[in-house]
Amino acid sequence: MSSPKRRLLVTSALPYANGQIHIGHLVEYVQTDIWVRFQRMRGHEVHYVGADDTHGTPIMLRAEKEGLTPKELIANVWKEHKRDFDDFLISFDNYYTTDSTENETLSQSIYLKLRDAGLIEKRAIEQAYDPVKEMFLPDRFIKGECPKCGAKDQYGDSCEKCGATYSPTDLKNPFSVVSGATPIKKVSDHYFFKLSDPRCETFLREWTQVKTPLQPEARNKMKEWVGQPGDSKLGDWDISRDAPYFGFEIPDAPGKYFYVWLDAPIGYYASFLNYCQSKGLNFEEWVRPDTTTEQYHFIGKDILYFHTLFWPATLHFAGYRTPTNVFAHGFLTVDGEKMSKSRGTLISAHSVIESGFNPEWFRYYFATKLNDSMEDLDLNLQDFVARVNSDLLGKYINIASRSAGFLVKRFGGVVSDAAMANPLLTEIASASEKIAALYEAREYAKALRNIMELADKVNAFVDENKPWEIAKDPEREADLQRVCSVTLEAFRLLSLYLKPVLPRVTAGVEDFLSIPAMSWNDVTKPLSSQTPIKPYKHLMTRVEAPQIEALLAANL
Ligand code: MSP
Ligand code: ZN
Repeated sequence: MSSPKRRLLVTSALPYANGQIHIGHLVEYVQTDIWVRFQRMRGHEVHYVGADDTHGTPIMLRAEKEGLTPKELIANVWKEHKRDFDDFLISFDNYYTTDSTENETLSQSIYLKLRDAGLIEKRAIEQAYDPVKEMFLPDRFIKGECPKCGAKDQYGDSCEKCGATYSPTDLKNPFSVVSGATPIKKVSDHYFFKLSDPRCETFLREWTQVKTPLQPEARNKMKEWVGQPGDSKLGDWDISRDAPYFGFEIPDAPGKYFYVWLDAPIGYYASFLNYCQSKGLNFEEWVRPDTTTEQYHFIGKDILYFHTLFWPATLHFAGYRTPTNVFAHGFLTVDGEKMSKSRGTLISAHSVIESGFNPEWFRYYFATKLNDSMEDLDLNLQDFVARVNSDLLGKYINIASRSAGFLVKRFGGVVSDAAMANPLLTEIASASEKIAALYEAREYAKALRNIMELADKVNAFVDENKPWEIAKDPEREADLQRVCSVTLEAFRLLSLYLKPVLPRVTAGVEDFLSIPAMSWNDVTKPLSSQTPIKPYKHLMTRVEAPQIEALLAANL
């Protein structure tokens, strides 16, 4: 049944170090974590790494505003992010920072390899410049009036009032968000990664269209970019920024820094390198082109281009392996709308914990919405309460409380071994490979639907057998033990299937059943009379509707 041992390096996107983790981010970390925990249960070698994405203009400016150095700011934010990930049971093997010596060394050496390969070109370009602050302005730092409808205070790419899209140079009465000054045009030298080079085009066409089993939506998107031979829309990629910039200096280019998106994905490798060094793992073995290890990146659909064009090209032409696959998910909306500060739906991870929510409620709810596509998913707060209470509590947890009491009170916690040969248990156990295949394919919604259907059957079994009735009849002791043993073993199997989603509750289950940490193969290891169970203690509480109101209020 078990496949040969695989060796997997898995990442989630690196969150920017200038803001809090919110529930939108959590969709991604929960999605990745479920997959990682599932793979570990299957007995594979899995390394899950992450880091804060620390460089760039917004972080530099935010630090200045708060009277901190960028390094102080990112150290503070790292602690908050790490706390939030721990709270939501995200099981990173290493959580690092892109502002590390490992990342600096790797970024510079990768750049030099690209340069040696003839893929770096220096070109002078003209850009918006803030003459007061004396810095070049990224598009996001220029505002002005919409050229279409005249709305004030609009960003340089699109109008929030009328929805028009345009370029920053089209804005009327533009001003720098940093100083208020009118931007001027200024020329400076930039370094470009020549993605338009025929070698890159050929490589990316092959990589995105043939070699990599990308999601169909992702593959089609990339097709527009890599086109047909001679018809590619790939432009060269500007990988440098001028001082002042918080980032790594480019070798042999004084005053020039790597654009944050050059060193950010390399930060995956830097985090893994840091981890390999502390664990005595051989980093090279994982990253060389002929490796048999697998490498997966979980990301949101907004950063697909970086991961399916720039990142594989960077790796390939610097002499590294490329990702085995990139898994993109959609965006989280709340009650059908984009998360918004003014509605209180931009819900921070920390506020969820502070408001007394159980993080596993969210892990479960997100999992019931997740599939392998890039479609957006909605957190419907009414539905959240119903799902958690009716599925998790009503269908799943309830099974344990319905059977454990009698076993402990009447049989010293000892199950009947003979009861384990039972058609209901056979049916549940035989679903294991189907459920495993759904987890593997990131079809969590379907996996959970299957698991909850099995839970329905277990509850029907209890309703039919009525242990509370049997318990009244002294002649039916053996029957009572049998029914409760079947029910509890069914609960164990359901817990095993839910373990990637609910690591904390299921750890409590393992403790109460007095069994070792379950792996997937333990489907075939039923509860035994040799190890009596402990008294049932409460595993999870219900979510109460007023808690939702409090959560929204906390985020206003
Ligand atoms: N720093 C970059 C990623 C660099 S990876 C080398 C970044 N950071 S982010 O903080 O903006 O986003 C981190 C991840 O969270 C991204 O994959 C992004 O798509 C995801 N999400 C951010 N908001 C989200 C939702 N509302 N819903 C789902 N995912 C969301 O991008
Ligand atoms: Zn407008």
